[in-house]
Amino acid sequence: MSILTISGGRPLSGELEVPGSKNAALALLSAVLLAEGTTVLHNVPYLSDTRIKASLLECFGAKVAWREGSLFIDCSNVRLGDCDEETVRSIRTSFYVLGPLLARVGKAVLPAPGGCKIGARPVDFHLKGLALLGADVELQSGSYIAKTTGLQGAEIYLDFPSAGATQHLLSAAVLAKGVTVIQNAAIEPEVTTLAAFLNRMGARIEGAGTSTITVLGVDKLQPCEFRVPHDRLQAGTYLLAGAITGGDVTVRGIMPDNQTALVNKLKEAGAVLNEGPDWIRVSAPKRLRGIRIKTMPYPGFPTDMQQPMAALLTLAEGTSVVEETIYESRIGHIQELNRMGAKIRLEGRSSVIQGVDRLRGATVEASDLRAGAALCLAGLAAEGETIVKNVHFIDRGYESIEQTLSSLGARIERVASPDMESTATQTESTG
Ligand code: EPU
Repeated sequence: MSILTISGGRPLSGELEVPGSKNAALALLSAVLLAEGTTVLHNVPYLSDTRIKASLLECFGAKVAWREGSLFIDCSNVRLGDCDEETVRSIRTSFYVLGPLLARVGKAVLPAPGGCKIGARPVDFHLKGLALLGADVELQSGSYIAKTTGLQGAEIYLDFPSAGATQHLLSAAVLAKGVTVIQNAAIEPEVTTLAAFLNRMGARIEGAGTSTITVLGVDKLQPCEFRVPHDRLQAGTYLLAGAITGGDVTVRGIMPDNQTALVNKLKEAGAVLNEGPDWIRVSAPKRLRGIRIKTMPYPGFPTDMQQPMAALLTLAEGTSVVEETIYESRIGHIQELNRMGAKIRLEGRSSVIQGVDRLRGATVEASDLRAGAALCLAGLAAEGETIVKNVHFIDRGYESIEQTLSSLGARIERVASPDMESTATQTESTG
């Protein structure tokens, strides 16, 4: 168990190379099960979530080896496995192996994923889609038991453009017989990445990145080598770190087109942004002003940046309103930021933020991954020392956040502290 101690008030400056995307990697780590042989994934971020997901694959007969940021996954002998319930429940994307297992071995048994701190997070779209593809899925004593005599192409309409359901159903449909059309599909970059990966394995997917995706089923997929693209959410967090501290930060190795919502909202707040083909630079020479934000599916403002953005807006001049439309309770940061002197009140699904002149360091607790990131940002800008507890949440999505921030001039340290974790458990599902 550890805590982060942050001595705030220093503008961050410098450049950083953004690591591979957690959410893209997690989707690929379900789809790998589809191909017999060894798939190699490069640039996989070494995070608790990716480590858990990789170890889960071993329960189904995969052989997994990490070598310097690359994952070698031999899926020659995939079988119906017996997996530990706690591991499955600790990351939501465990559930997304159901479709690939059905496609590959015709049967799967998996403990049901739980809700989590940011909302209920049902899996009804996944289940409806799998049923349309010809799977018979039943919930028995807390586990899903799924079987099929052969997946068949189908027309699937998603009630909401869910990233996870689109990725899961794509991964099931590629080996189904005939044509599958997913309507109202998510157009998140992580969906496009998954489709590119599956196509490299020999799948025939068209339209990924639009709301209608067509899949022409094939008999077999081949293993391949693939590089996980950068993490747009880590990139966004470090841009916000530059802006909240009045600093000057450049993130490299990214695709600026994936950041248009954040970039435009930062500009609206008064930050200065420049970009090149694979980098964005932010500086905030003057106090920022309050703005309105509404989270939306991509390319709208990402829900994952809502809490870090709220941290930034606590110090902006005037009133900001941040409306969360994707998750019902992504609000764990509010009480903690208020402990640091922020003035945020919740009105329905909106946080109304009255900008303050300064935040003051305090002992605060991360309640989930992005709330943890928000608290680190606030700590960097606050006067005095901030202690952030429940760092395990942050470790799910940021590899050594303290090292990255230190490289930009932050005074932040990880300290082992057995007594300072709160009651939040290590295995609570988010992400
Ligand atoms: N939803 C349903 N039924 C379903 C599936 C989704 O009602 O069957 C609802 C969800 O409850 C939510 C909305 O649809 O209200 C959107 O959920 P979505 O399925 O798009 O989210 P997800 O795939 O579960 C991924 C990311 C999240 C990110 C969201 C939105 C991964 C591992 N997780 O979740 O990332 O917030 O998309 O972009 O890819 C994070 O990284 O911190 C994180 C939580």
